[in-house]
Formats: sequence, structure tokens, C-alpha cells
Amino acid sequence: MGYSCFVLAIFYIVLLHLCTQRAKGADPTVGFTSLPLNSSNFEIQRPYDLPQSARYSFINGVHRLWVYSTDKPHSPTSKTKPRTEIRIVGYNYSSGVWQFEGHGYVPKGTSGVCIMQLFGASGQATTLAMVVNNGTLSYYLNSVLVPHIYDQWFRLNVIHDVGAGKVRVFINGGLKLEANDHGGTSHYFKCGVYSQRTPSYYMESRWKGIKVLNKM
Ligand SMILES: *[C@@H]1O[C@H](CO)[C@@H](O)[C@H](O)[C@H]1NC(C)=O
Ligand SMILES: *[C@@H]1O[C@H](CO)[C@@H](O)[C@H](O)[C@H]1NC(C)=O
Ligand SMILES: *[C@@H]1O[C@H](CO)[C@@H](O)[C@H](O)[C@H]1NC(C)=O
Repeated sequence: MGYSCFVLAIFYIVLLHLCTQRAKGADPTVGFTSLPLNSSNFEIQRPYDLPQSARYSFINGVHRLWVYSTDKPHSPTSKTKPRTEIRIVGYNYSSGVWQFEGHGYVPKGTSGVCIMQLFGASGQATTLAMVVNNGTLSYYLNSVLVPHIYDQWFRLNVIHDVGAGKVRVFINGGLKLEANDHGGTSHYFKCGVYSQRTPSYYMESRWKGIKVLNKM
């Protein structure tokens, strides 16, 4: 009796474990190697006429980046819209399978802004852009990935398979998008706030647990 109860208990524990794993979704980082990252890999791009501390903070592991629609671009010669972004340096890539992982947060009101980009393409600037418009998170202006993104932490995993020419986006472990990449010979990751066509006056995103991973 005691023995069969024990076997039954083990059986239920295993079943429960499998069910929770399934509910959480498969971990997109399985099989990837997480690469070393420190502050020297984070270049902060911000309005060129302001000190970094006016648009960026790093407190208790949380990167907070903000910008105003009336701010200057990140360099005096740039004609681009205002941005405050972390640019990952030291990990430009042109082959293999690469992954960005980060936990993101977008406060209510932030709109008309790109919060994450995979840079490098041919004929355009990016392989992928994650855009927030009026509370939705989408892939460019095309596919809505999360209809209500404000005021919650979400786990973002972006995988770029250069050889296959594919990008995949996972939110909270669930596959939300698979798309073709846009060619190009050198790529890198960025996250933060980069103003788009109809920006809110104030734009902010927060990031923690940023990882760069690859699989060769
Ligand atoms: C960051 O890591 C690199 C090696 O990957 C090392 O050369 C550099 O000194 C480190 N910088 C900091 C600020 O820890
Ligand atoms: C990484 O790519 C950027 C943009 O193409 C370029 O400016 C930079 O020099 C590259 N860095 C390395 C180490 O290749
Ligand atoms: C977001 O809402 C504003 C105000 O209603 C509107 O002007 C803008 O076009 C909307 N943006 C998108 C991409 O729908």
C-alpha cells in the first residue's frame, strides 16, 4: 500500500512538472550559448546635446530609457528621429544563429515608437523592428504580437537564423511570429525607444536580464 502510494505520488509529480513546462512554453534559449556581456557591450545612444543621465538610468538591474518627440537625434549629422537606445556592441554578426533575450516593460502612454530592433539589412535599415502603437506591440506596422502591452513585464526572445534567412519572435516563451529576414551582411541588436511616425510626446521602455546568445 505504502509503496503504490509512493509510485503514484512520483507519477503525479512528474505529470505536474510536464504540465507546468508545457504551460510556460518551450525555452527558446535551449541549445544556445549565452555570451559574456558587461557594461562595455552596452553603448547608449541618446540626443546628442544631452548627458546620458538625462535620458537613461540603470538601477537595480533595470535599464530605463526615455526620450521626447521634440529631442534632437543621436548625432549632430543624423537626420533620424529622436532615440535613446542601448546598442549592443562587440557582437556584430554575419552568419550563424543569434538570439536576443530581454525582459521589457512599456509604461502606458508610450506610443509611435520602436522598442527593439535587429539592425542590418539590404535596401532598408533593419531585419526586424518591434513597434508600440497605442498599446499594441507589433512587428513593424504589420502583425500585432501583443494587443495590450502596457504596464507589464514581458520576456522577449528574438532568434535570427542568418543561413535560413528567418527571424522568430517569442513573447513569454510562446512563438508569436516567423518572418523572412531582409538580407544584409552585418547585424546587431538594439533596445530602448526610437521615435516613429506618430510618436507620443514622452516615450519610455525598460529592460532587464538582457542576453545575447548564439549557436554556430
Ligand atoms: C568587459 O569584458 C571584457 C572582456 O570580455 C573586458 O576586456 C573588459 O575589461 C570588461 N569591462 C568591464 C567594464 O568589466
Ligand atoms: C559593427 O557594425 C557597425 C554598423 O554596421 C559598424 O559601425 C561597426 O564598426 C561594426 N563593428 C565591428 C567590430 O565590426
Ligand atoms: C494612435 O492613436 C493616435 C491618436 O488617436 C493616432 O493619431 C495614431 O494614428 C494611432 N497610431 C496608429 C499606428 O494607429
